[in-house]
Amino acid sequence: MEEESETGKKGHLVFAVNGQRFELFTVDPSMTLLEFLRTQTPFKSVKLGCGEGGCGACTVLLSKYDPLLDQVEDFTASSCLTLLCSINGCSITTTEGLGNSKVGFHSIHKRFSGFHASQCGFCTPGMCMSLFGALVSAEKTDRPEPSPGYSKLTVTEAEKAIAGNLCRCTGYRPIADACKSFASDVDMEDLGFNSFWKKGERQEANISGLPLYNHNHEICTFPAFLKREVKASMLIDSKRCSWHQPSSFLELQSLLKCYDANNGVRMKLVVGNTGMGYYKEVEHYDRYIDLSYIPELSMIRRDHTGIEIGAAVTISKAIEALREENKDEFISASELVFKKIADHMEKIAAKFIRNIGSIGGNLVMAQGKHFPSDIATILLAAGSFVHIITGSIHEKLTLEEFLERPPLDSKSVLISVRIPNCESIEAVYLETDSELLFETYRAAPRPLGNALPYLNAAFLAEVSCSKSSSGIMMNSCQLAFGAFGTKHAIRARKVEEFLTGKLLTNVVLYEAIKLVKAAVVPEDGTSNPAYRSSMAVGFLFDFLSQLAGGSSYGWLKGIKGYNGISMLEDFKSEKYGNLDHVKYTTMLSSSKQEIQLNKKNCPIGEPITKSGSTLQASGEAVYVDDIPSPGNCLYGAFIYSTKPFARVKGIEFNSKSLPDGVTALISFKDIPKGGQNIGSVFSFGPEQLFAEELTQYAGEPVAFVLADTQKHADIAAKLAVVDYDLENLEPPILTVEEAIERSSLFEIPPMIYPKQVGDFSKGMADADHKILSTEIKLGSQYFFYMENQTALAVPDEDNCMVVHSSIQCPEYAQVVIAKCLGVPEHNVRVLTRRVGGGFGGKAMKSMPVATACALAAHKYQRPVRIYMNRKTDMIMAGGRHPMKITYSVGFKSDGKITALHLDILINAGISPDMSPLMPEAIVGALKKYDWGALSFDIKLCKTNLSSKSAMRGPGDLQGSYIAEAVIEQVASFLSMDADSVRAINFHTYNSLKLFYDGSAGDPLEYTLTSIWDKLATSASFSQRTEMIKEFNRYNIWKKRGISRIPCVYDVSMRPTPGKVSILNDGSIVVEVGGIELGQGLWTKVKQMTAFTLSSINCDGDADFLDKIRVIQADTLSLIQGGITGGSTTSESSCEAVRLCCEVLVERLMPLKERLQTQTDSIRWEMLVQKAYLEAVNLSVNSFFIPNFASKHYLNYGAAVSEVEVDLLTGQTTILRSDILYDCGQSLNPAVDLGQIEGAFVQGIGFFMLEEYTTNSDGLVDTEGTWTYKIPTIDTIPKQFNVALLNSRLNPKRVLSSKASGEPPLLLAASVHCATKAAIREARKQLHSWGCLDGSNSTFQVGVPATMPIVKELCGLDVVERYLQCKLGSN
Ligand SMILES: Cc1cc2nc3c(=O)[nH]c(=O)nc-3n(C[C@H](O)[C@H](O)[C@H](O)COP(=O)(O)OP(=O)(O)OC[C@H]3O[C@@H](n4cnc5c(N)ncnc54)[C@H](O)[C@@H]3O)c2cc1C
Ligand code: FES
Ligand code: FES
Repeated sequence: MEEESETGKKGHLVFAVNGQRFELFTVDPSMTLLEFLRTQTPFKSVKLGCGEGGCGACTVLLSKYDPLLDQVEDFTASSCLTLLCSINGCSITTTEGLGNSKVGFHSIHKRFSGFHASQCGFCTPGMCMSLFGALVSAEKTDRPEPSPGYSKLTVTEAEKAIAGNLCRCTGYRPIADACKSFASDVDMEDLGFNSFWKKGERQEANISGLPLYNHNHEICTFPAFLKREVKASMLIDSKRCSWHQPSSFLELQSLLKCYDANNGVRMKLVVGNTGMGYYKEVEHYDRYIDLSYIPELSMIRRDHTGIEIGAAVTISKAIEALREENKDEFISASELVFKKIADHMEKIAAKFIRNIGSIGGNLVMAQGKHFPSDIATILLAAGSFVHIITGSIHEKLTLEEFLERPPLDSKSVLISVRIPNCESIEAVYLETDSELLFETYRAAPRPLGNALPYLNAAFLAEVSCSKSSSGIMMNSCQLAFGAFGTKHAIRARKVEEFLTGKLLTNVVLYEAIKLVKAAVVPEDGTSNPAYRSSMAVGFLFDFLSQLAGGSSYGWLKGIKGYNGISMLEDFKSEKYGNLDHVKYTTMLSSSKQEIQLNKKNCPIGEPITKSGSTLQASGEAVYVDDIPSPGNCLYGAFIYSTKPFARVKGIEFNSKSLPDGVTALISFKDIPKGGQNIGSVFSFGPEQLFAEELTQYAGEPVAFVLADTQKHADIAAKLAVVDYDLENLEPPILTVEEAIERSSLFEIPPMIYPKQVGDFSKGMADADHKILSTEIKLGSQYFFYMENQTALAVPDEDNCMVVHSSIQCPEYAQVVIAKCLGVPEHNVRVLTRRVGGGFGGKAMKSMPVATACALAAHKYQRPVRIYMNRKTDMIMAGGRHPMKITYSVGFKSDGKITALHLDILINAGISPDMSPLMPEAIVGALKKYDWGALSFDIKLCKTNLSSKSAMRGPGDLQGSYIAEAVIEQVASFLSMDADSVRAINFHTYNSLKLFYDGSAGDPLEYTLTSIWDKLATSASFSQRTEMIKEFNRYNIWKKRGISRIPCVYDVSMRPTPGKVSILNDGSIVVEVGGIELGQGLWTKVKQMTAFTLSSINCDGDADFLDKIRVIQADTLSLIQGGITGGSTTSESSCEAVRLCCEVLVERLMPLKERLQTQTDSIRWEMLVQKAYLEAVNLSVNSFFIPNFASKHYLNYGAAVSEVEVDLLTGQTTILRSDILYDCGQSLNPAVDLGQIEGAFVQGIGFFMLEEYTTNSDGLVDTEGTWTYKIPTIDTIPKQFNVALLNSRLNPKRVLSSKASGEPPLLLAASVHCATKAAIREARKQLHSWGCLDGSNSTFQVGVPATMPIVKELCGLDVVERYLQCKLGSN
């Protein structure tokens, strides 16, 4: 909608959102674009996932118009960090602006839906915008016109477009395919499973099958009215907005002078404001000065002396400038340096941050706040200079001098940074025949970025071929290291001095490396210090070894005839061969998805797209926080305890910075008479809502602060100071060992304690070998649903309460709220439409959130809502159960295990939650092998930690992993390969029956052995095992491993209600107990409804699915909804609906038969109308109760994963994973495929990446996206093949289907086992160099196997050892 404005009416903030004009007169300058969009516009598609630039859920397209050039510049930006005032004159496009249900969806939305790339949908709007941003940029290039339907985007760019966006549901593969479908160089055959062409017709896969994209008719991102206003020089009114946009240097200087004089006014210089993502200051600033409009700070100047980049230039623009082609045919040394710098910069943060974050902002953060910057390190090695101004004093310093200075004061401004041309680098005196070499390094958990490095480095060297020998001379060098736990990046001067003038030999290298180790020493308190130092060695070695003839290549081929020239050539081809960023190889190779369609029960078994997925993509899907705030609404934030066991004496606020609008503080004292201090409840007991006199764990809610906005409530909670008293209190219990010592245990009801199998003593007596008392420790994992915990409580008449909650079990919330308020349950209505990811974390953990809102709403008789911030969410969430396992195992010489005993101590935290179910789950998955005899002692430890809850695959994940750990240890003891030990311990059907008693089913249902064999063939397991051996023989610094593992997962069905009603016009409304969490429950339910009702067989029923709407859960409409979890809720909800529909069919059939005697054609609508006239009851409730025979069943699957480990950094790359999973007769293969891939990738997070750690008080200290790293597109398997096995019909199950939500998560252990195999190879090599004492085979790999852990096992001193060995052998 375009509105004309009076251009004369200047002085306000004017911008457009999706073409709609906004004009604001007074603005809080600290307001972010996201806050504005979400609270003051209808555009709710910008989601708040983290608020710190780390997830991409809030991505928008920002368009700026340059009236002089008459050009529009478009780029993506994270709206959670972009300040609203900074977008004056800009146009914003959100995903609703691309298209929507009213004007028609955009092809991006349709393709996301059709490629099954949206599950819970919370990440989808941001993903769509990141893709759109990449499309817009590509279309502006001068690349050749693409063929009709394609864009100018390349496949590589399409993949990279979403590199910084997080998704917790899909596993990324389908998202990547949706993005790649737009690329001009895509091979359509490479795209994955989708709804645009059917399997078997893949040869017809072509662009015409896809929703049309016309690159000439794309969205106009900049409305004409805004252009006119921009031309009329729209200026922001700094008085009203406290926001200055100086457009000249002089203006800036006078502003600075003025604020300097005006003491007490808090002023902040700002460009992209992305620094807030890291520092999250709550400090209030009176004035902001936006540096983006000052020409000197925004220019990029390139001349013969180098390239000068204004401090306000964004990282993205700097990258572009550094990559700008020189017209010379040969790449000059400087250009090479610039390109390397650009490549490195591309790994900083994500595109939507690089597009707004400035070079200067980064350097100032590095200089003054010790930010672990990449830019400082790489520019330091390149010998850069900075230009700063303080008052009227201009200074030009080397970057090194700048970094070493005290922090810039508020009067100083960084103007620019200059990267000199190599020829003018003072330290380098280029000889005529010398070569300039430059390389940069960074080791981070995510290779493509969006992760701070453990260490970065950049090396510039000027070398020449020695005239007197065949080697290479180091004439001079600049070696910079940073981000390793140092105040700022440093030059390793001693190493530089040592190397200068030396002939590069292994002896020299060895000495240099010793000096590096002494130079790169992290400060006290830095995590993994030895790891960081060891990588500095690794990086320098990587840079110089080839020049010293010491690379693996040189080592193997021998260096006869290998002279300085060839060394240099090798170096250049390896390091510079890939400098054309557009031509990079793709990240993911083509993956296969194989399904067998089951047409018998159509539309059951059809891979139809997820219900509502286009709405999710267009941002119109409504989550709890998208419901508009009712008038008079208050916002809450939790104040949590930071002490695990302490008396609370009081709570105060740091009142100096306390914002206006903070209204009240709610604590246990506000619980009404007759109510209870209860925050959650499950069968095993409740947990309290607020701490009373004593806190019980760090992270426990102590109070709930209320304010007029969420921001104010959050700031107030942050400023709250809880006064604790620890006097005469016992120390808290934080570990399982302490819990045992102090007998702090929860009871496990005998009914649910698993049964032992066989006689352990006898099994041990039969064993040829025994391994006794091996210990394994497993840590926690955070749910990381993309939508944080949220609720909205609205008081209703007669002491009733309506609560919208993002919860997996609304019924439980209803119970808890009623108990807390002391009202009958019929006074509480809990509504849940959709949940933005749950994974178990939106069950117990959502109840206190909803209850606190309800309590506050009850007290103040005003609506109260909360959208928790990521940090508080992470601190309070609890997560997966950590545990300590000690096992003893007996086995025969052929690997057959005869007995296994386990002592398992589970850290359950403060309340029982669902923890008593853990033993059964652990043992359930552990029993996948025939252990001969199995005994165990499992204890549930009560500790002063947040209670641990049932995270996806709770207990089963650990049990399955423990089984693999035992197998691996037996294998290494016997020097057998683990795969054979697995096979020999597989169950026969008889042993399966013995171990799984009521769940094993009949012999034909035991599909695991055939899955195992089929997977070996489809994944070419044997051939690849041989190839890997070959690879490992010839590669010193990279080792590969492969592993195949099975999973057995026992699930149980629970009673579930359903209700189906047919409305007058024939449309159908369905209610089920299950909640739509992204797992496709509604989609399957719709299919089941359509399938069953269509048995009436009316004419023209083809579009039956379109008549069906599944509606939100409402605890007063459909009772006994229970909990959505355990992988079976979709099935049981389907069954409940089937029961309803059968009754409806029964009621309608006689009518239809009667009508048939009167007319030939009976349409559905007509039948329904007649039924209404004849008062047929067209609403049916059901309650599905699984019978004993069908309650439990086993799920089977297997996976093969191959990884490559980098011995210098510890980085693990998953080269390929193949999964074969038995889905029974899948109700919807597209949905099941999505569950399998998504679960597997979540498992990769647990096994490889996600460290969910606490401080010494048990307070979670990985509290955001900066420290907690879930998988991203660059950490998933490069090739990811999934096949569904449609096992036979089984009348005992819901239309023969099986579960898919949790079991595949267990298979991710294959990645961990493969990593272990690769590490074993590395250790063998180390052993062969005579460097490992004793057996190299007994070692354990921690979970998660992060880079530091892997590197440590491969040898922190692997380089030194290698060189020592080499020097010794020379
Ligand atoms: C999610 C995320 C991930 C990131 N990952 C990395 C990474 O891996 N490696 C890396 O190196 N960086 C990383 N960064 C940092 C990023 O590069 C910086 O946040 C960004 O460059 C800062 O620029 P800005 O314009 O947003 O600065 P702002 O936030 O606007 O300013 C930052 C600070 O610098 C001051 N300032 C800004 N410009 C000037 C100037 N010209 N003179 C004086 N003071 C000034 C401001 O007052 C403020 O104190 C990451 C950032 C985010 C949000
Ligand atoms: S919410 Fe903005 S990046 Fe996560
Ligand atoms: S679909 Fe991506 S987070 Fe749920």
